[in-house]
Amino acid sequence: MRASSLVEHCATVVAVVLLAAAAAAAAARTKDECHSGDKAALLAIKSAFGNASYFNSWTPDTPCCEWANVSCDGSASPYTARRVVGVSLVNDASLAGPLPGAAIARLTALQQLVLNYVPGVNGSIPRDLTRLNATLSFLDIISTGISGPVPSFLSEITALSYLSLSSNKLTGSIPASLADMPNLYFLDLGYNRLTGTIPPQLLRKGSYLYLSHNKLTGSVPAEFAAVNFWTIDLSYNGFKGDASFLLGANKPLLNLDLSHNAFSFNLSGVQLPEGLNSLELSHNEIYGDIPEMVVDMMLNYLNVSYNRLSGVVPAGGNMAWFDQSCFQHNKGLCGSPLPPCKQ
Ligand SMILES: *[C@@H]1O[C@H](CO)[C@@H](O)[C@H](O)[C@H]1NC(C)=O
Ligand SMILES: *[C@@H]1O[C@H](CO)[C@@H](O)[C@H](O)[C@H]1NC(C)=O
Ligand SMILES: *[C@@H]1O[C@H](CO)[C@@H](O)[C@H](O)[C@H]1NC(C)=O
Ligand SMILES: *[C@@H]1O[C@H](CO)[C@@H](O)[C@H](O)[C@H]1NC(C)=O
Ligand SMILES: *[C@@H]1O[C@H](CO)[C@@H](O)[C@H](O)[C@H]1NC(C)=O
Ligand SMILES: *[C@@H]1O[C@H](CO)[C@@H](O)[C@H](O)[C@H]1NC(C)=O
Repeated sequence: MRASSLVEHCATVVAVVLLAAAAAAAAARTKDECHSGDKAALLAIKSAFGNASYFNSWTPDTPCCEWANVSCDGSASPYTARRVVGVSLVNDASLAGPLPGAAIARLTALQQLVLNYVPGVNGSIPRDLTRLNATLSFLDIISTGISGPVPSFLSEITALSYLSLSSNKLTGSIPASLADMPNLYFLDLGYNRLTGTIPPQLLRKGSYLYLSHNKLTGSVPAEFAAVNFWTIDLSYNGFKGDASFLLGANKPLLNLDLSHNAFSFNLSGVQLPEGLNSLELSHNEIYGDIPEMVVDMMLNYLNVSYNRLSGVVPAGGNMAWFDQSCFQHNKGLCGSPLPPCKQ
């Protein structure tokens, strides 16, 4: 080989190697690159928050599936771009301003949106989120500065199965439209400033319901007797009336918290669900006796203090775990761990 051709040959090899390396790098980039519309939407979200430092990894020249707090689906094929399915804005007190609904709605494959402890994010819940009606199944807006109502348009997001709007500044009543959501099984509206009553058909199938620490009133809808709840927390509201139908021998109920309300019913004849784990009834106007069957259950928590119960505290089983604070301030309860009954 002549010297010049050797040089040419080497140059070709180097070029091929370089091209291969470049292609591999491009492939790696493409692998983590998301749909261009999703990338533009994410950059619009970043810009809406004034390009806050939270979004430092969200830069146009890097693949967006690698950006912090962004998740993508697996790519369907080497030729289709990955879609952004999750975005979370968490633990940042410096993020401020309204939720950029229009930009978020441009993430047309979004399944999970999580805001948790971003107290500077304020304004109301934007209607644009309803454009994600077919994809958004998990929505957390927790510990933010968001105010205004629980919008009735949330029911248009038919894909939604998990909705937590706890610890915000939401006011007004619970919209009856939420009862129309076909996939909703988890609803947490706790720690807001909600008023009014619980819509009768709020949840209709197996469900978790958290409404604690609001200003809700009225009684528990009789329709709830037919719903298979796993957890119900209605504590710290202004509810009254009978809620004993939430209990019942064959229910799947695991946790019930009715504490700090004005519920008033006779506990004596109530059948407790077999699998019940925790029963918090303190600070109500509940009367009658503690059902003897508590001794046969695997309760991990029981508190019936500050009611109008009477009779002997049942003894045996897990009952030994519960100290007098769980039974104090009742009308006529007696027996260990309370003082002995008078003959
Ligand atoms: C955020 O950065 C982008 C790109 O540098 C810029 O076009 C946009 O105007 C910035 N937005 C704000 C609100 O500063
Ligand atoms: C957000 O991104 C940061 C930085 O990568 C990470 O430490 C944090 O765990 C992420 N949080 C969530 C909820 O994705
Ligand atoms: C949101 O917070 C900003 C300050 O960060 C304030 O200027 C603005 O009025 C607030 N908006 C609402 C709707 O509370
Ligand atoms: C989402 O909303 C659009 C426009 O209102 C509607 O055409 C579509 O059927 C809805 N999809 C689902 C799954 O609800
Ligand atoms: C509570 O119900 C029991 C029967 O389950 C009954 O014997 C008792 O009189 C009732 N107590 C009150 C105050 O109505
Ligand atoms: C039971 O509830 C009362 C009243 O809220 C409270 O003072 C007490 O600490 C509770 N007991 C336990 C063990 O949580």
